[in-house]
Amino acid sequence: MVIDLITIFPAMVEAALAEGVIGRARTRGVVDIRARDLREFTSDRHRTVDDVPYGGGPGMVMKPEPLFAAVEAIAAERGPASAVVLMTPQGRPFTHAAVEGLSRLERIVVICGRYEGVDERVADVLVTDEISIGDYVLSGGELPALVVVDAVARLVPGVVGDDASVAADSFADGWLDYPHYTRPAVFRGRAVPDVLVSGHHGEIERWRRAEQVRRTYERRPDLLDRAVTTADDRKLLAELRQRNAAAGVSDRKTDGQEPGDERDD
Ligand code: ADE
Repeated sequence: MVIDLITIFPAMVEAALAEGVIGRARTRGVVDIRARDLREFTSDRHRTVDDVPYGGGPGMVMKPEPLFAAVEAIAAERGPASAVVLMTPQGRPFTHAAVEGLSRLERIVVICGRYEGVDERVADVLVTDEISIGDYVLSGGELPALVVVDAVARLVPGVVGDDASVAADSFADGWLDYPHYTRPAVFRGRAVPDVLVSGHHGEIERWRRAEQVRRTYERRPDLLDRAVTTADDRKLLAELRQRNAAAGVSDRKTDGQEPGDERDD
């Protein structure tokens, strides 16, 4: 897989991509990920990448010419991109399904927006996919782009050493992850659950699955509609619901609202 990131902060992006699982995969040649300096694709003395918005208003807008030049130069060098992704809070939500979709592509270009936004003609003509990593605004697309690249590259075979670890990742089958423990067996008076030191693999598997179900039910009930359930999962969910009902607790506590969100105009 080939990924090119277009940014005005290539050193920031490069620093993150040099470390950890992704850094090692790059060194081994499993993925080819490069940060491209947008200013290299300008043609004026000041290497200008932004300008004032038509119609007025605050902030600056990223100019179209350097972005078109960058995407075209990358296509000439690498071959046409399978997707040109623009990182923007206006994009589609970045979910596990989106990660899987992108991980099947061969060549991806990611544009990191800055300032108030990017000239809309870039989105209209160049971009094939607009992605948001969440309902909050960051000061630029670099961190979101790194989130996307990290999540997508993890699914490329050979990037993560142990394929089983990727398959077991939270969200791969729609559940949150189970709790993890390592030594010491007792830390500040808190012991590791007995089952994990019992050596009974079957029981450990069952305990972990039950913890996944319990956590998902308690923390992200919105995920339950699409999680793949076994008969045991459904039995446990029924018990959890019954227990909550008996205690008078509402079943759907995460509806996306935060305290103080209501307005009455
Ligand atoms: N740029 C700024 N904020 C962003 C977000 N939440 N997602 C993607 N790109 C962004």
